[in-house]
Amino acid sequence: MARRHFTNEIIPRENLDFGLDTSVPRFWWGGNPYKTRLFDSMQSTFPDGERYFIASVVAFRKGIDDPALAEDVRRFSRQEGQHGLVHEQYNRMIEAGGVPLARIIAPITGRLKRRSERFSPEFNVALTAAAEHFTAMMAECFFDKKWVMADADHRMRALLAWHAIEEMEHRAVAFDVMQKVAKVGYVKRAWAILYLSRDLIDVMFRAPHAMMKADGLSARRRWTLQITNIPWLVRLFGPLMSKAGAYLVPGFHPLKQPPMRNYAKWLEVYARTGDPLEAAEALAAAAA
Ligand SMILES: [Fe+2]
Ligand SMILES: [Fe+2]
Repeated sequence: MARRHFTNEIIPRENLDFGLDTSVPRFWWGGNPYKTRLFDSMQSTFPDGERYFIASVVAFRKGIDDPALAEDVRRFSRQEGQHGLVHEQYNRMIEAGGVPLARIIAPITGRLKRRSERFSPEFNVALTAAAEHFTAMMAECFFDKKWVMADADHRMRALLAWHAIEEMEHRAVAFDVMQKVAKVGYVKRAWAILYLSRDLIDVMFRAPHAMMKADGLSARRRWTLQITNIPWLVRLFGPLMSKAGAYLVPGFHPLKQPPMRNYAKWLEVYARTGDPLEAAEALAAAAA
């Protein structure tokens, strides 16, 4: 018997106000420069990444003959467009704080540009589907357990919660376009997620250190932070590794995985209040 497929509606939400302003502390993750800059690094690539994701999926729009998938692609593009705009705004805040972010992430954004220009549309959509698997996994890892985000600034937490919810909603769109329209087979799909590991090293190690250096932290202080935060890193990202492995199972489909347990709570509170900060608090309260 085929395993159940979990479905959810993709709802683009626009012009949300997270209250992001100069009162957000520089080290918004409980005063910890390492945790802050690790998350800043991850989110800093989103504006260019989201544009790349949209372009990779939309490249196959003409070949989509299923109206439901065509509508999903439209909603996916609107969601990713909004994510890009809000994270762009946050990137400008980081730069206003004296961190030369554009220069630090240039190797990553440069690679995205070269991939668009040089790789086949099929491999670009396979890379996008793999990246979307990562974002959906991260959404769950960050919001499934209370302890993870407990020390984060409530405004940053709300921004990341909204993004996590929408990643959960559209987690199958790029995958479906890759399989049903671009006709990408197993080998290319599996190679794509392995290929992305190069970006992860940059985002997880090089960029956070470059940002902390711009913050004025000495090499000794940066590496002390890196080492003392290893248990936190393992606890946070350990579960993600097994979920990443699921992508390599031949019959994998994103909707065979249930949505995060507190997903419905965010939806309910946001629908009632229209306030992403309140919805994020409810999401956190409903975590394990
Ligand atoms: Fe996104
Ligand atoms: Fe996404």
